[in-house]
Amino acid sequence: MVAGCQVNAFDNPWHLAYHCPMMQTERVRDVIRYIRRFKGSTIVIRLDDDVVDSSLFASHIHDLALLYETGLRIVVVPGAQAHISKVLDAYGVAWKFQDGIRVTDEEGMDFIKMAAFDISNRIMTRFSAERLTAVIGNWVRARGRGVVGGTDYGSAGVVERVQIEALARAMDDGFIPIIPCVGWSATGKPYNISSTELAVAAAVALKAEKLFFIGSGATISLEDYKMPSGASLSPEGRMAAISVEDIDEFIEMNRGADHPNCPSVELADLLRQGKEACERGVTRAHILDGDVDGVIPAEIFSDLGMGTMIYRSDYGSFRPMQKDDIPAVLSLMNPFVERGILLPRTPEDLESRCPDYAVYEIDGGIRACGALHAYPEGMAEIAAIAVDEAYAHMGIGPKLMDLLIQRARDAGFASVFVLTTQTADWFERFGFKSADISLLPLNRREKWNPKRGSRLLILHF
Ligand SMILES: CC(C)(COP(=O)(O)OP(=O)(O)OC[C@H]1O[C@@H](n2cnc3c(N)ncnc32)[C@H](O)[C@@H]1OP(=O)(O)O)[C@@H](O)C(=O)NCCC(=O)NCCS
Repeated sequence: MVAGCQVNAFDNPWHLAYHCPMMQTERVRDVIRYIRRFKGSTIVIRLDDDVVDSSLFASHIHDLALLYETGLRIVVVPGAQAHISKVLDAYGVAWKFQDGIRVTDEEGMDFIKMAAFDISNRIMTRFSAERLTAVIGNWVRARGRGVVGGTDYGSAGVVERVQIEALARAMDDGFIPIIPCVGWSATGKPYNISSTELAVAAAVALKAEKLFFIGSGATISLEDYKMPSGASLSPEGRMAAISVEDIDEFIEMNRGADHPNCPSVELADLLRQGKEACERGVTRAHILDGDVDGVIPAEIFSDLGMGTMIYRSDYGSFRPMQKDDIPAVLSLMNPFVERGILLPRTPEDLESRCPDYAVYEIDGGIRACGALHAYPEGMAEIAAIAVDEAYAHMGIGPKLMDLLIQRARDAGFASVFVLTTQTADWFERFGFKSADISLLPLNRREKWNPKRGSRLLILHF
């Protein structure tokens, strides 16, 4: 955290910006960077009907309208499960769930359409209140599920094709498409399709940048679930991000005596569908809690977000520092320099040793840095290690250390050392041991400042 700023960045990045002037500029820059990055990209929102019924519905649509104004292309897929159940029950139509799929006979389809279009209509009306034109359309070709394993799925269908040309035209003309969870076959027969599957199909077909699943109470936290070691947790215990590789492990590890229903069928379905979307080319899928006001912009305009992001493992990556990165690297180091943890460096210092530095980048923002400096005595120094505090505890520091240590090994150094005032315990985790200052390479010993009194730690290979 920036010195003098006591607000927890993970709780609410917007809250942070308002309360900590030192962070305000950085946040504003982050937002502008994201607006530039996402301008013209498509975001598919699967909005559950429980959120449409909630007091935050108007606020979420207002946020979507603001996003639309920044140049994002928005497609909404309303989830209508609760409404469909209510309408079917009210009209005495028999239905059941079979493996998470609603099964009714053909008669039920009229009522399903009624409920699905009613929810879509409410979303369209709300956009009108924001002076935006949303359109409900038939952009989905579907076919029946038929009879599987002896079960006749009746009116339940699957997505055959999303008509992306027509959808894209609607968006080009400035409309916000709303796709109800009903699709028609080539012969005009309607089928009830899962809104989650539909949102995935639309996001894949439209090559969406993001797919949001927004439902009431959809926070995935340490309080309720066991977490795989690869999951990134926020300090308050929310699963902020999970890679597609870890999703099956999450689902498996949460089955069992303590958690007979965890993850719920719905959550497991969202995670699997989010994984599928990412594997089929959607950049990120996100599970968001519709009970949290401002959750949509917070998830878009900060990569920590307020929900759970599903990503392919190319989410963040290391690369060599470029000259253009120097201002960002200096501002990353600055809070630690102010606290006396890191030595101050000038732009010229960094430029003269540019090839020594590695940076860790997420969505175009530099979130960590470190350097490996060579000395003629067969030793290398790991220096300038810094991880943006909003990204601490996510394992970025250890990955950076692994990278620099490996680089030193590959270059044939006999040992690496660090000089540190306050971080010795952390370096010891990697096998570094305290050593006498006299063991420093000559050139470095001459620069060692007794007043600063940094400790020397060495890792021998
Ligand atoms: C130290 C630092 C690189 C860790 O980065 P990170 O990506 O958060 O690393 P991790 O994912 O391992 O998580 C941090 C862990 O290190 C511990 N840690 C953080 N700072 C520490 C310190 N000064 N001393 C000992 N342990 C520390 C945290 O308590 C946490 O422990 P936990 O895993 O038991 O919860 C980062 O906190 C940082 O940039 N610190 C300031 C700069 C610095 O000290 N650089 C080295 C100067 S030579």
